[in-house]
Amino acid sequence: MPQKLFVTTALPYANAAFHIGHMMEYIQADIWVRFQRMRGAQVNFVCADDAHGAPIMIAAEKAGKTPQAFVAEIAAGRKPYLDGFHIGFDHWHSTDAPENHALAREIYLALRRNELIDVRTIEQFFDPVKGMFLPDRYILGECPRCGAKDQYGDNCEVCGAVYSPTELKNPYSALSGAKPELRSSEHYFFRLSDPRCVEYLRTWTQDGKLQSEVANKVKEWFAEGPDGKIQLGDWDISRDAPYFGIEIPDAPGKYFYVWLDAPVGYLASLKHLLERRGEDFEAYLADPMLRQVHFIGKDIVTFHTLFWPAMLHFSGRKVPDNVYVHGFITVGGDKMSKSRGTGISPLRYLELGLDAQWLRYYIAAKLNARVEDIEFNPEDFVARVNADLVGKYVNIASRAAGFLAKRFDGRLSADVGVEGRALLDALRAHSATVQQLYDEREYGKAVREIMLLADRVNEYVDAHKPWELVKHESQRAALHDVCTVCIEAFRVLTVYLKPILPALAQQVEAFLDVPPLDFAAAQRALGGHRIGAYKHLMQRVDTERLDKLFEAPAPPPPAAPGGEAIAPEIAIGDFAKIDLRIAKIVLAEAVDGSDKLLKLTLDVGEGRHRTVFSGIKSAYKPEDLTGKLTVVVANLAPRKMKFGVSEGMVLAASHADEGAQPGLYVLEPWPGATPGLRVR
Ligand code: 2FM
Ligand code: ZN
Repeated sequence: MPQKLFVTTALPYANAAFHIGHMMEYIQADIWVRFQRMRGAQVNFVCADDAHGAPIMIAAEKAGKTPQAFVAEIAAGRKPYLDGFHIGFDHWHSTDAPENHALAREIYLALRRNELIDVRTIEQFFDPVKGMFLPDRYILGECPRCGAKDQYGDNCEVCGAVYSPTELKNPYSALSGAKPELRSSEHYFFRLSDPRCVEYLRTWTQDGKLQSEVANKVKEWFAEGPDGKIQLGDWDISRDAPYFGIEIPDAPGKYFYVWLDAPVGYLASLKHLLERRGEDFEAYLADPMLRQVHFIGKDIVTFHTLFWPAMLHFSGRKVPDNVYVHGFITVGGDKMSKSRGTGISPLRYLELGLDAQWLRYYIAAKLNARVEDIEFNPEDFVARVNADLVGKYVNIASRAAGFLAKRFDGRLSADVGVEGRALLDALRAHSATVQQLYDEREYGKAVREIMLLADRVNEYVDAHKPWELVKHESQRAALHDVCTVCIEAFRVLTVYLKPILPALAQQVEAFLDVPPLDFAAAQRALGGHRIGAYKHLMQRVDTERLDKLFEAPAPPPPAAPGGEAIAPEIAIGDFAKIDLRIAKIVLAEAVDGSDKLLKLTLDVGEGRHRTVFSGIKSAYKPEDLTGKLTVVVANLAPRKMKFGVSEGMVLAASHADEGAQPGLYVLEPWPGATPGLRVR
């Protein structure tokens, strides 16, 4: 019976391009899926954009787009990465698609029928300027423990204290700068603390579905507190409007928290795929032989080992069979950050003409089945690709192909003699080990095993010296055998590497003129078969080109920005004369009789307010500016204007010829800046 597998990777937030961390996860899962297919499994491998949540809503608003348009644009940019790195998802969906809305509500209603949903009133910070409740990460203030300024609402980056946003001193909204107000609101909770959930999860997390280190970590969450009660708390699954998400049934103005509907997106993506093929989604999931496997990063374990299985089980659905957790990828010792990514951009990698399979191979060589971080090290990358992949493996083919073509018309000998057969048998005998290592996600060990086999083939070639044999007509049969052994060995190694190097394997299939390779094919000899013409299979890494990956992208040529030439050079002292300050727009108002100007009342941290008239009326509504931070030239001589005195100038970007190319963009500092800070 072929295995039936439903495999996913975590759904990436639809607010940014992929970084190397995403690619690592997709490569890890893609290798596993390709491997399972090679040994006959039927796999559906899906992913989707994680479209909802406050950060995406806010980013869309900032970009002046609807959230739908914003996430659609991100989705449209996914293909070059996935195709470029040979990631073979069967379908890519969105959590904002209709299937997900329907499934999320269905699951919720089933949980409610099961009496696992509670409604409670909680107190939360509300931004009176933006008119919305603030997620923790949009509340800043002074750390209640060490007093560090501009700390997030949940923990202090300076002293490490963990607290709730209401404990911050002098809190302010990162969105508007306004002082947040405590307001109460009804929230919906998934009652994870219900004894049924606790019992179920205690078993589910400890019965072999998780890596042991993950299971051990999860166990701690079931520890009893001093009161003898388990610490597992209820889960707040609702957010108040305005929110980009799925409305909760029978709860107007309430939306599912993004993490409720995100994993449901796994099912929505699968459903869409199956229905497109005319297959029945529920029947597919009901098959007791189906195995459901999620690949995820170590930062989202709680969601996938507690909330997600509980949601599924208590709504009467199939639960995951495995959750495979990986670590992060670091570059040059730099911790990968979700938002910043790392120094290497996957798209730049491709644009530089670097081979996607080098990265697939390198990542595979570093991966194991544990939750360890891996380090991208450029020297190591070059060494492994050039010395191992090309030097040991690809070279085997090129060492033999020329002689076979020229001397034997590309035909392999029918039999290869005792020594050759022994070598090939030894290579073939490793098939089970290699397969087991892939299955266990021990790709690093698999690669090491395969390279040791390649070493043996190269030793065989070095011992038999085909370049010597070719000089003596009497050695013709020996030459034929040695070259045939090389090609047969190369074919076996290609099968072993195929999950990692799918495109190269395809080239090899064309070169050998054989049907798609699988593990069974590796066990048979080609005896007497005529192979095709050898074409160069893979380059070595050119280190100069690799270095470019780590350089900052070249600055645009001087005349490029908006077509406007760069102004004559100045000295740093010239710049220092301009006193730029962070200003808070306390009030923005229209000016009677002017269609260009807005009157801005600014707080520049001087204990008084300034008035500045600014020609930005065409681009901004006054109410959109009030409460925002901007940058002002604070030491500009006051200027008398028709409508009053202007005490400074607000900075904005525009084209040189505003008439021909409209567009005006007031500068706004990053969150955390406060009125009066100097810009330098
Ligand atoms: O952490 C993240 O990037 C989330 N977008 C992952 C969601 S995984 C699944 F639950 F959808
Ligand atoms: Zn602190």
